[in-house]
Amino acid sequence: MTIHALIETARKLVGDGRGLLAMDESNATCNKRFAALGIEQTEPTRRDWRELLITTPGLADSISGAILYAETIHQETTNGTPFVKALVEAGIIPGIKVDIGAKPLAGYHDEKVTEGLDGLRERLKEYRQMGARFAKWRAVLSLSQGQPSPACIEANAHALARYAALCHEADIVPIIEPEVLMDGTHGIDACQDATSAVLQSVFEQLNTQGVVLEAIILKPNMIAAGLTCDTQPSLDNVAATTVVTLLRHVPASVAGIAFLSGGQSAELASTRLNAMNVMRKSVGARVPWPLVFSYGRAIQQPALEMWHGEASNIAAAQRILVHRATCNHAAINGEYNAAMEL
Ligand code: 13P
Repeated sequence: MTIHALIETARKLVGDGRGLLAMDESNATCNKRFAALGIEQTEPTRRDWRELLITTPGLADSISGAILYAETIHQETTNGTPFVKALVEAGIIPGIKVDIGAKPLAGYHDEKVTEGLDGLRERLKEYRQMGARFAKWRAVLSLSQGQPSPACIEANAHALARYAALCHEADIVPIIEPEVLMDGTHGIDACQDATSAVLQSVFEQLNTQGVVLEAIILKPNMIAAGLTCDTQPSLDNVAATTVVTLLRHVPASVAGIAFLSGGQSAELASTRLNAMNVMRKSVGARVPWPLVFSYGRAIQQPALEMWHGEASNIAAAQRILVHRATCNHAAINGEYNAAMEL
C-alpha cells in the first residue's frame, strides 16, 4: 500500500460524516465495567458484549470504524463469523489497539508512560494480515500540581511518534491518543495549558520521526474543567477553548480529529461535540479538520447498563447503542439537540 492509500483510509474514517466506536477496553477495564453492574467477568461474557456491539443493526450509518482489542480481534460471532469480517460486511473499518498499557514512569511519582514498542512491528504485520486497517495507541497524562511533568510529556510523545512511524511502515493508519485525564478538580485553564504542552510535544516528535500527518488521526481530550471541579465552564467556553487550542497546536494537514469522551456523560459528550461543529460551521475554513468522535464510554455505557449480561436485553441494548451513535452522528453535523434524547 502507498501513503496515498493510507490517506484515503484516514479520510474514510473521519471525513465522511461518521465517527468511531472505541470498543478496545483491555480485559481489566472491561471486567471493571462489568463488575460495577454485576455482570460476570469472563472471556465468553466479554465476547457476548462485543458481538452485541458489532451486530447492532444500522450501526454503520453513524460509525465508520471500530477499535478492537487483542482478545476481541481473535473472536467470532455465535454463527462463526470472525468479528473483523462481520465489521467489514457491515461497512465498518476494523482497527486495533496496539499499546500494552500505561506503566509507571521511572523516577516520577504517579506518572505513566505507555509501553508496547517492543515487537510492535511484528504485531502490526499480523494485525494487518487479519484485516485491521488502523490502530490506536493511548498515552495517559494526569493533571495535578506539577503534572504532567516535561519528562512524562516527552516520553509519551516520543512513544506515540515511534508507534505512528511503525504503523505507516505496516500500512496501517495510526490514531494518536494523548489523553490529558479529566479526573480531578482542576479548572479549564489548567487543562488548556497541559493539553497545549502535550500537543506541542506530540507534533514535534511526529515531525522528528518523519510521520506523514495527512495519514494520521488525532484523538484528543476536549478542553474542559476536571470532572469534580466545582465551577464547570459554559458549553460555549469548552467548545471555543477546545477549538482554539487545537488551531494553535495541530497542523492543518492532519486528516481529522476524533475526540475521546473521557468520563463525560453520554449526553454531555454529544452536546459538546455538537457545539464545536456549530462553531466550525460558522467560522468555516478556519477549522481545517473534521471534528468527529471516537467514544468508548459515551457510546457504550447506556447500552451496557441495559444489557446487564442478559440475552433477553440484547435488542433493547442495541437500540440504545444505535441511538447514541445517531446522536453523535448528528453532532458531527451540528444538528444534535436535547430533544433527540429518548
Ligand atoms: P472514552 O470515550 O471512554 O474516553 O474512551 C475512549 C478511548 O478509546 C480511551 O482510550
